[in-house]
Amino acid sequence: IDAALSDGPLKGKHILVTSGPTHEPIDPVRYIANRSSGAQGTAIAKALIALGAQVTFVTGPADVAPPAGARVVAVQTAKQMLDAVTAAAPADAAIFAAAVADWHVANAGDSKIKKDKSGLPHLEFAENPDILATVSQMKTGRPALVVGFAAETDDVIANATAKRLRKGCDWILANDVSPETGIMGGVDNDVTLITADGTEDWPRMSKQATAEMLADRIAKAIA
Ligand code: CTP
Ligand code: CA
Repeated sequence: IDAALSDGPLKGKHILVTSGPTHEPIDPVRYIANRSSGAQGTAIAKALIALGAQVTFVTGPADVAPPAGARVVAVQTAKQMLDAVTAAAPADAAIFAAAVADWHVANAGDSKIKKDKSGLPHLEFAENPDILATVSQMKTGRPALVVGFAAETDDVIANATAKRLRKGCDWILANDVSPETGIMGGVDNDVTLITADGTEDWPRMSKQATAEMLADRIAKAIA
């Protein structure tokens, strides 16, 4: 660790970052998942580390490599992600960039479903725990700053504003992930920061630049 790094404004702060998708098994060879490369979450972790933070990076199976210098906890399912997040507490701040699957397959089996057996499979879904809401609503040991994302395709700001209040997080970063924006799987992001004080439209810029801007704001908020 170089001197500049260990002297950063987030020196001594423990920050939890979730990233990537979760995979929810259907059977041993199949799963359901959300789309997520893990690019934005990884960039956020890197930017926080660059400001001196000690980062626990809880990641589902992502496309991009996890950030150097983080404590990496690799998980598959939402339930495992919740357990890893709980085990990593306490933290000074928590950033929830993961695209968590909303449901798991309640009747997932240990043997492979064969397509010639009995016609189409009937999957039963059950809701996954909401990790962001769980942490936001912790009665003791809640991180001082809890930040979520709201990836929306319609009524972005209205949906994200409602989501912030419903979940109880401090900040939410809203973005429009409609296919024509090119944000999913792309280099750029275009977010609006929503806090108790209102909304702030950030320019479209690289996910790395977005991460650096967020890390600066986090440093100002908790340092
Ligand atoms: N999130 C989470 N655990 C879940 C679902 C979502 O921690 N089970 C977090 C995401 O990491 C993100 C935020 O909650 O920071 C919003 O996720 P999103 O999918 O937009 O919200 P949902 O409440 O799942 O609503 P919906 O998918 O119906 O829009
Ligand atoms: Ca969701």
